[in-house]
Amino acid sequence: MLALVVDPGAPASLRLAEAPEPQPSPGQLVVEVSHISLNRGEVTFAGSRPPGTVHGYDAAGVVARPAADGSGPAAGTPVAAFGAGAWAQRMAVETSAVAEVPAGVDPAAAAALPMAGLTALRTLRTRDILGRRVLVTGAAGGVGRFAVQLARMGGAHVIASVGSPARAEGLEADEIVIGLDGVDRPVDLILDNVGGPQLRAAWELLAPGGSVRNIGWASGEPAVFEPYSLFSIGPAKTMSTFGDVREVGPDLATLLGFVAEGRLSPQVGWRGNWTEYDKAAAALLARTIPGKAVLSLA
Ligand SMILES: NC(=O)c1ccc[n+]([C@@H]2O[C@H](COP(=O)([O-])OP(=O)(O)OC[C@H]3O[C@@H](n4cnc5c(N)ncnc54)[C@H](OP(=O)(O)O)[C@@H]3O)[C@@H](O)[C@H]2O)c1
Repeated sequence: MLALVVDPGAPASLRLAEAPEPQPSPGQLVVEVSHISLNRGEVTFAGSRPPGTVHGYDAAGVVARPAADGSGPAAGTPVAAFGAGAWAQRMAVETSAVAEVPAGVDPAAAAALPMAGLTALRTLRTRDILGRRVLVTGAAGGVGRFAVQLARMGGAHVIASVGSPARAEGLEADEIVIGLDGVDRPVDLILDNVGGPQLRAAWELLAPGGSVRNIGWASGEPAVFEPYSLFSIGPAKTMSTFGDVREVGPDLATLLGFVAEGRLSPQVGWRGNWTEYDKAAAALLARTIPGKAVLSLA
């Protein structure tokens, strides 16, 4: 089969090449992949993985071979899937990490959901957000656009932080700010995708008892917390990481259901064929894609 495999010497460190067919374990099914989506982390770190590795985590397609243990959907079922080795004509994936794509949902939209949508959903679930002030940094990106929409669905007052006015296009938030300029009242929850000095500054915006969830570090810059700068009077402010992608199937089904109901837009800002992977990767890193990049294998 063909796959996007790691090649540190290739453009964007990936090359479309022959790769071995996946060998599913009893609890895995095989997906015939039609669409894949890119995430900043995969694009940034592609070159640091062992050469020849089939890369990527997000895919949509059709079940080609059901799991031998009888779990999961039957052959022919359209699914979205989350798992290593997704950027290939066929991927083996745990049945607990797939969800059926409802009728009427575009497979490109389904492929956009796993990594970014699950991260946004699960991070928001860590706090009670109804009526709370939620700040999303990197709000114009893949995770950020899902986070803004889901936080509004959850009844939060959402403040979306973007890098420039142009990046606010298509974002529907209660407030849109450039950087952190104009955030004039404390916030209860911060979903931070950017890290660096902006994370340091965001800490000062937290209300007593508030939390920062550091999802990512798109800035690539250090955040310097001066001695005692984490000290605060009253209920503790907290900062925590996110990386929980266990048993994602049910949450993936929830996201697909929201899309089917028209409540969640996948915000696919770049579509192309997977032969154009390097162009999509460059556009993503240049911060010119509003939302997700999705590639078709057709
Ligand atoms: N913990 C996890 O499980 C998990 C899961 C998914 C993603 N992540 C991480 O979360 C972060 C966001 O992922 P994503 O897929 O949403 O990425 P993305 O689509 O590239 O979005 C990143 C956003 O960060 C903003 N940004 C601010 N300063 C930046 C800088 N110096 N360089 C680049 N971007 C900058 C950009 O804002 P503007 O567009 O306004 O310029 C951009 O919209 C990444 O670091 C990713 O690796 C972590």
